Amino acid sequence: MIINNAKLRGKQGLHSIECENGRFVSIIEQDGLVIPLESSLDAKMNLLSAPFVEPHIHLDAVFTAGEPNWNLSGTLFEGIERWAERKPMLTSEDVQRRVLKAVQLLVENGVQHIRTHVDITDPELVALKAIVALKEKLSAYIDLQIVAFPQEGILSFPNGKQLMEKALEQGADVIGGIPHFEYTREYGVESMRWIIDLAEKHGKLVDVHCDEIDDGASRFLEVLATAALEKGIGERVTASHTSAMHSYNNAYCSKLFRLLKKSKINFIALPTENMHLQGRFDGYPKIRGITRVKEIKDAGMNICFGQDSIQDPWYTLGNGKLLRVLDSGIHSCHMMGYEDLETALDLITDNGAKTLNISENYGIEVGKPANFIILEGSNDVEVIQKQGDVLYSVREGEILISRQPATLNQTIPLIE
Ligand code: FE2
Repeated sequence: MIINNAKLRGKQGLHSIECENGRFVSIIEQDGLVIPLESSLDAKMNLLSAPFVEPHIHLDAVFTAGEPNWNLSGTLFEGIERWAERKPMLTSEDVQRRVLKAVQLLVENGVQHIRTHVDITDPELVALKAIVALKEKLSAYIDLQIVAFPQEGILSFPNGKQLMEKALEQGADVIGGIPHFEYTREYGVESMRWIIDLAEKHGKLVDVHCDEIDDGASRFLEVLATAALEKGIGERVTASHTSAMHSYNNAYCSKLFRLLKKSKINFIALPTENMHLQGRFDGYPKIRGITRVKEIKDAGMNICFGQDSIQDPWYTLGNGKLLRVLDSGIHSCHMMGYEDLETALDLITDNGAKTLNISENYGIEVGKPANFIILEGSNDVEVIQKQGDVLYSVREGEILISRQPATLNQTIPLIE
């Protein structure tokens, strides 16, 4: 396959890209516009980018909003209660049917790499087994990382530690945690140290729902970062949400950033989800409850965006479109300055790949797998301005999806 007339991120001019046997074999700057041969793909001066990365979603819960009851308060904790009512109704068929529907939405919107959290506070591990069984079948469309996520706690749920170990035996790739939901601060601290030890023992990645609460006194992030630093595994560790950082005082945050930088851990912000769930205990003014994305980025740490939910007990909307999440995130995090906009797609591409520890096989480079998308617009700023569709998603040189931009059938009369 040869792709002509492609714009590339951070590069001038138009490029011609050749793929062979599922890999990029050449990327060259064109000398002017090229009329493509019939067998080639014409990017029409649109942006060719590495695929979107969805680093944080709960595929086991997708499309369960309102089943059996709606989350009326809109809080995180009522979401957990509603989900606990839905959980006994899970069957393998039910989970797989909903996961496939969500994966199709994600693929249609340019995602090829997904990290999903799967609730393992279930003695039968129904959802985990159902999703592990799909992983291989889905590999032609997406790479899937599965987080063993203890939704109702590790120390606060019966046999929580054993369930985590069983989930790893069943095929989970990543160890999760939820320290702010444990019964006590002590349980939260112990859970963080325990999962880091477990990750070191099994050579696993870690991704913790960390301090997803509007409590400025929720400080499990410092425990997670310290444990990761002391074991030297920070690049394999991720702190998701860290909403409480929004409420930390600046003096504490300044001290905390020194540790976070040294630890080299990754961050995931979930802008649409946390704008919806947080600030629920405030009168006015209401906080946004999103972590300090711009400050983390400007300090040179790795941070990316995820969507968290598609129509589940925590969030009734969601449609697989990471460009929508990016748009919300840059608005709510005051990242609309031109310098931030110029590289904004990093938040749903390269930074997500780094978080998932997949950078080695990710990106538009000769020798890497020929995975890419073509977006409406010629650079990051135009893509965000247009909020257009993903025109192509190509995986190992095979077209997964394609669509045409809208065309005008009538000419709009010019204003004299
Ligand atoms: Fe989450």
